[in-house]
Amino acid sequence: MIDASTRLIALIGHPIEHSLSPRMHNRIYRHMGINSVYVAFDVSPEHVGQAVAGFRALQVRGFNVTVPHKQAVMPYLDAVDQTAAAIGAVNTVVNDSGVLTGYNTDASGFMHLLEHRGVDVSGKDVLLLGAGGAARAVAAALAINGARVVVANRTPAKAVALADAINEHMGRKACYGISVEDIGQTPRPYMLVNATSVGMWPHIEACPLPDDYDFAGIEVVYDLIYNPGLTLLLKKAQAHGCMAVNGLDMLIWQAIEAIRIWFGVDVPYSLVMNEMKNIENFT
Ligand code: ATR
Repeated sequence: MIDASTRLIALIGHPIEHSLSPRMHNRIYRHMGINSVYVAFDVSPEHVGQAVAGFRALQVRGFNVTVPHKQAVMPYLDAVDQTAAAIGAVNTVVNDSGVLTGYNTDASGFMHLLEHRGVDVSGKDVLLLGAGGAARAVAAALAINGARVVVANRTPAKAVALADAINEHMGRKACYGISVEDIGQTPRPYMLVNATSVGMWPHIEACPLPDDYDFAGIEVVYDLIYNPGLTLLLKKAQAHGCMAVNGLDMLIWQAIEAIRIWFGVDVPYSLVMNEMKNIENFT
């Protein structure tokens, strides 16, 4: 029941109408007995500062930030945690008595995902496809967990820039940027991550790897795409006996992380997964 104690959690982005987050969060709050509502706001780029000022004035408990505001929101916050600073993007903000602190739960969510799946990347080679915002969060999480990351991208300059930024922050050479055309010349990875949009609905016949790519020796293939649930890449990975994980996990873990930051509550993964299955028309 909404009453005078109900806390608001907001989401800002542009556009916002396709976001699954309001349905996911409100279902979790109901199940966990958290007296809060999660509401999405379509905020245009020129109004990001005003939106944050409004959240301060209203003393909301926190907010999520999505595309295209993950970087633009940073100057309006009072503090940014180390991982979010390394990535250069914030997707979760908590308001502690008027002090706004930004986090990146895409990265911390990815770390929990690895732990939950029993995947240890420390000292191992990981091939990361893509060099956009999602790839950046994954690269930071992998580097922090001690992996050697090869970032391969259609536009190689973006892969090199991403690797340089992470390395500078880590103070060591954890990432290398290359062209996707050169992946055959890199060591066979322990884990492969797709952070490009290749294979996403409606282009489900597309695969980010060449047809003749050899999966032998790869143990884990993670695709950030969750629609379709099984991309062509994951089908191929399964056919080769790899552990195949889709992007739903990242969505779930970043929400679990955010709820821990806002409310200090640990939501079970299985509860969120069940709620996602109940969301109509989801994948
Ligand atoms: P996100 O925020 O989801 O990471 P993004 O920043 O737009 O989205 O990044 C999309 C990634 O998918 C990029 O690495 C992009 O490659 P470029 O940097 O060369 O643009 C990659 N990508 C998108 N479409 C692609 C395609 N058809 N083939 C190969 N890579 C593609």
